[in-house]
Amino acid sequence: MRLSFDTRPANQIDTPVLVSYVFEKDNRIEGTLAALDQATGGRLKRLAESGELTGKALEATFVHDPPGLAAARLLLVGAGKPEKFDGAMLRKVAGMALRWLRTKSVTRMTVLLREGERNAAGAEAVVEGLLLASFDSDFYKTEKKNNKAMESATLAGSEGASVEDIEEGMERGRIIGEAQNFTRTLVNEPSNRLTPRILAERGEAMARECGLDVDVLDEKRIADLKMGALLSVAQGSIEPPRVIVVTYSPAQAKSGAPVLGLVGKAVTFDTGGISIKPSEGMEKMKYDMAGGAAMLGAMKALSALKPAVKVVAVVPATENMPGGKAQKPGDVQFAMSGKSIEVLNTDAEGRLILADGITYAKKLGCTHLVDAATLTGAIVVALANINAGVFTNNQEFEDRVLASARRAGEKMWPMPLDDDYRELIKSTIADIQNISSGRGGGASVGAAFLREFTDDTPWVHLDIAGTAWLDEQKPWAAKGPTGIAVRTLVELAMNL
Ligand code: BES
Ligand code: ZN
Ligand code: ZN
Repeated sequence: MRLSFDTRPANQIDTPVLVSYVFEKDNRIEGTLAALDQATGGRLKRLAESGELTGKALEATFVHDPPGLAAARLLLVGAGKPEKFDGAMLRKVAGMALRWLRTKSVTRMTVLLREGERNAAGAEAVVEGLLLASFDSDFYKTEKKNNKAMESATLAGSEGASVEDIEEGMERGRIIGEAQNFTRTLVNEPSNRLTPRILAERGEAMARECGLDVDVLDEKRIADLKMGALLSVAQGSIEPPRVIVVTYSPAQAKSGAPVLGLVGKAVTFDTGGISIKPSEGMEKMKYDMAGGAAMLGAMKALSALKPAVKVVAVVPATENMPGGKAQKPGDVQFAMSGKSIEVLNTDAEGRLILADGITYAKKLGCTHLVDAATLTGAIVVALANINAGVFTNNQEFEDRVLASARRAGEKMWPMPLDDDYRELIKSTIADIQNISSGRGGGASVGAAFLREFTDDTPWVHLDIAGTAWLDEQKPWAAKGPTGIAVRTLVELAMNL
């Protein structure tokens, strides 16, 4: 999709469809819309008075051959109540417009920013919304009968604005939107087309393209490093594991500056292992690598945005299979840190591979850690598919991550993790066990297990099991992978 900015006044823009948005309030036709209304000889006021144009969130009003405008058609999208309007809503408005217009075979559109959004943040949100909406999950359909792609999207609305700011915001939106779509493309791949080795190749290709350093650990190096927890999961599969390490080092990195470690769970398929999952819905477990894919997407964006801090992504990748060599419930494994683990349930495998990922990230010099993982079904019970769960061993660092999530417009909610949860993972035979000895609180128990490997390093764990996959399409997004966490992590790195 080509992106550009049109500095002409709205009435002179000759586009197939000019898009703007309307708030739900009594004087709906104000500001930018009042100007359009005037140009069209009062069309918009009449639509509002008739009750057709209400401004209700994501309502579409299509005006054909608007008089006085060079545009062939005008699409007005409801933006809801002005007091609730934010970047997230603007993203949805732009995205919904794109997907709605595609069903009408429109291939070129122009989004007119209103006076409140004629700045970098507004332009960024619109471009992100457009790019995210243009993603579809139908890669393997041999006949794409659905929608034509949007070929070009133009932004407009330059009166009273700095075009430079807007263009800068558009560029940021493009970088971050494309990074999220890169993540979504990986997450959407079925497990036969994205094994740990293939994921490593895709990560490596991205890193080379973006000028990032990359190191892929194969099974031999993983064994030399004594990553026993990761290997215990991998041993049930014929596919060898990989650890993908991607590094961004800024030119002016000061010594003693923080180094951000991004550790992402990449189980390219989770059958549960010997503690096998029920067959119903198991196909979805191809998305059990969404945490790892989010880290690779964040690195792609950071390579272009160039934060001041060093960032290292560590992505342990494996399948979780019940092969003849698979680990069995009750087996004891030694993690890279030296801790012994009683594996009581082979389906609690994400925490095992992250344990070694976290240890390795610390070994590489990371001073701050964030992990993202589709870790537990329990987080879906607690927060549905609305919020990602956030856990920490350091309140200050968690506050930073939550503030980044808010700025990025990704929903995340703090969850408890205190010393008492540790009691639940005490093992009889080993240092710790990988599931709770009690009932309930599964997401906090998973986090408590991870915390055992962080020691004093400030760490935040994001449980994205509920938020990495959309079961039903939305007006602004296709069904399938969401790319959750990429925006928050980029925001965090840019402000660390
Ligand atoms: N990958 C799953 C978690 C998951 C569940 C992700 C649903 C997405 C949707 C994870 O490896 C798992 O199986 N966790 C178990 C842990 C349990 C055995 C303690 C779970 O949540 O049931
Ligand atoms: Zn599992
Ligand atoms: Zn899993």
